Amino acid sequence: METRDGTTTDRPLALVSGGSSGIGYELAAQLAARGHDVAISGQSERVHDAARTLAADHGVEAHPHQADAATYDGVESFWAFVAGLDRPLNVACLNVGVGVGGASFLETDLDDELRMIAINCAGTVHLAKRVVRAMHEQGPDHGDRRILVVSSVSATTPTPYEPVYGPTKAFGFSFAESIREELREEGIVVTALLPGATDSEFHANAGMGNTGFGDNSWKNDRTEVARQGVEALFADADHVVGGDEATKQQVVDHRSMSEPEKAARQGAAARPTS
Ligand SMILES: NC(=O)c1ccc[n+]([C@@H]2O[C@H](COP(=O)([O-])OP(=O)(O)OC[C@H]3O[C@@H](n4cnc5c(N)ncnc54)[C@H](OP(=O)(O)O)[C@@H]3O)[C@@H](O)[C@H]2O)c1
Repeated sequence: METRDGTTTDRPLALVSGGSSGIGYELAAQLAARGHDVAISGQSERVHDAARTLAADHGVEAHPHQADAATYDGVESFWAFVAGLDRPLNVACLNVGVGVGGASFLETDLDDELRMIAINCAGTVHLAKRVVRAMHEQGPDHGDRRILVVSSVSATTPTPYEPVYGPTKAFGFSFAESIREELREEGIVVTALLPGATDSEFHANAGMGNTGFGDNSWKNDRTEVARQGVEALFADADHVVGGDEATKQQVVDHRSMSEPEKAARQGAAARPTS
């Protein structure tokens, strides 16, 4: 296959939204380690450094794209960038997502929450639409067609003190399971990754430094979370809980707890301490 710079490659191609750091970077690294060229997006300039590191560490092509996933144009520009590589797309990780917490709904900022909904819900649907149609057009003759939607353990419980975040992740989980069923007979695999609390910049960026989530030391390792996600994607699993045994047990517990019980437990963990 000819690449944009005129060289040839037999490597499959994967995209990862929000691939410049955190879980997304580790998903890109896992896929690169499995021999995929990667296209990654981020909002800041560090996406370029991230791509250079991925290429150097794994001997693959890594294509960086800087755009704001909160806007229609930003999502569309990442898709145009990937489509412009003019190659079959084998894996898509719809990973980019943000949180808003550290305060009650009474106090959180509406614009922050609407922006989060734009990234976590509208942006996920937007990129998925482009990916699904492209994979459908592409057909089965160019290798794998796999989509990983990064949801959260927060999809399985009410989330007081980040009261809009959890619902955005429940949206992603249900959306992934829905399109998985639609695409099953066509051979396009869709998997949802539900990480538990994971060591990244996520909670600091979500304004949760003033909660028990402000400290990263006890959280799941992002490399392990990403490894479990990619493994589940290639095993055709419908979903996987990303993290250690306690994290997986949390989701088992959630199945038998009432919504108020879960809300109380989650609220106690996420309530601001200052
Ligand atoms: N960490 C957790 O505890 C946890 C738990 C469950 C689920 N998750 C989910 O996992 C996913 C990844 O989270 P993470 O923990 O890796 O978060 P993170 O460390 O904050 O990384 C976020 C990534 O998304 C990019 N990004 C953020 N806002 C963007 C925007 N407006 N436009 C484009 N790119 C943007 C960042 O790019 P820049 O380099 O430009 O900042 C970065 O690459 C999210 O969907 C999150 O909901 C996380």
